[in-house]
Order: sequence, then C-alpha cells, then structure tokens
Amino acid sequence: MAEAAISTVSLSEAQSLDAFWMPFTANQQFKANPRMLVAAAGMYYTASDGRKILDGTAGLWCVNVGHGRREIAEAVHQQLLQLDYASSFQMGHGGAFQFAERLVKLLPGDLNHVFFTNSGSEAVDTALKLAIAYHALGDEPSRQRFVGRERAYHGVNLGGIAVGGIATNRRFFSELTPGVDHLGHTHNLEHNAFSRGQPLWGEALADELETVVENAVLKPSQR
Ligand SMILES: Cc1ncc(COP(=O)(O)O)c(C=O)c1O
Repeated sequence: MAEAAISTVSLSEAQSLDAFWMPFTANQQFKANPRMLVAAAGMYYTASDGRKILDGTAGLWCVNVGHGRREIAEAVHQQLLQLDYASSFQMGHGGAFQFAERLVKLLPGDLNHVFFTNSGSEAVDTALKLAIAYHALGDEPSRQRFVGRERAYHGVNLGGIAVGGIATNRRFFSELTPGVDHLGHTHNLEHNAFSRGQPLWGEALADELETVVENAVLKPSQR
C-alpha cells in the first residue's frame, strides 16, 4: 500500500487551527489547548505527543471493527483503482445492488428495500420524508406530525433537530421545523438507575403519547 497517502499531519505542521470549524466542540477552548491525533491501530489512537489513547467510543461508532484493518484498507484501495465513484442517478454499479441485496437478507420481516444515505442525519431526514410521502400518497394525507422525546439526538439536519429534543439545536430554526411534539425524557435516576432488564417504572412516559396523539388530531392552526 502507498504509505505516503496516510495523513500524519501533526500540530507542528498545521499552519493554523483557525479555518476548521469543529462540530460540537468549544472551538476557542480546544484551539487554546488542542488534543491532536496522528495515528490509530486496533482500539487505540496515538496522540501527537506519542500517548496511546483507548478509543472508547469506536470513533463515535464509525469504527466498530477497530482502526487500521488491513483487509478493509486493501479492499477500499482495490475498489478505488477499479471504479472510484459512480452516481446512482439514472445509472448504477454492481456494488450498490449487491450490498442492498445482502442487507435485506439480514433485515427482519418485510424490510426488503434499501435507500442509501451518507450519514445518520441524512438517514433520519430521509426517513421522515418517506413517512410523510407514504401517508400523502395513501389514505391519510393529513398525517404529518412527528413525535420525538426531550433530550433525544437524531442528528443535525432540519428534520433531525426538529424531532430531536435538544432545544439549543433548534434555537434559530423553530419556524422551519413545525409539526413536532415532544414527550418527556426518560432519564430518571431515582426510578430507573440500575434496573435489571426493563425497568418497572416508566409506563407513564409511554402513556403520554396518547395525550399527544389526541391533541395532534387537531391541525396546528386549530390549536
Ligand atoms: C439516534 C441518532 N440519530 C442520528 C444520528 C446522526 O448521525 P450522523 O452523526 O452520522 O449524522 C446519531 C448520531 O449519533 C444518532 O445517534
């Protein structure tokens, strides 16, 4: 493999930390005292000062099979050389069909079609759009409300922040994200901490949905 292709840019080589606007990060704080990573293998990152750091979240759940797997790097390398990219607009390539076919075999029930997206945020917004379009084309075109939960995280696109329960993420966008109700959150240490299996407490959190649905039968303009 071409080792030179692997980024080993360390802090000393970076001209400035200013241009990159980091997501979900206190930028000024980080840039005053940056924690830079330069390599990864298996479960560990290597920091720019040489320390090994356990990647406890598997790269925020993007690297569940571990870092630097040679067989994955080689497969990606081969694919890049053979067919690096092909649009799926009015044309196709075998890999996408093959992957979709393999995926539906693993999925339960009648989940038998796959629509690919590039991130969880895009997947959530796509799912919301599909649900609305499904009912618009079916018997219930007025069925257009969503129910989320306070504190829930469903990504950063408009649909995801709307059904999500992080109020600060919606702060400037509430006009663009109407039509969503939020149930109370489920974080209750007094009742749910250290439960084995399903906690005995919490039915009320589900029952709340009935009230929300009853209210939602009225169009937002009627409320
Ligand atoms: C439930 C849920 N929805 C959506 C997302 C957004 O995914 P992404 O960061 O790939 O956009 C996440 C990410 O953690 C998630 O946990």
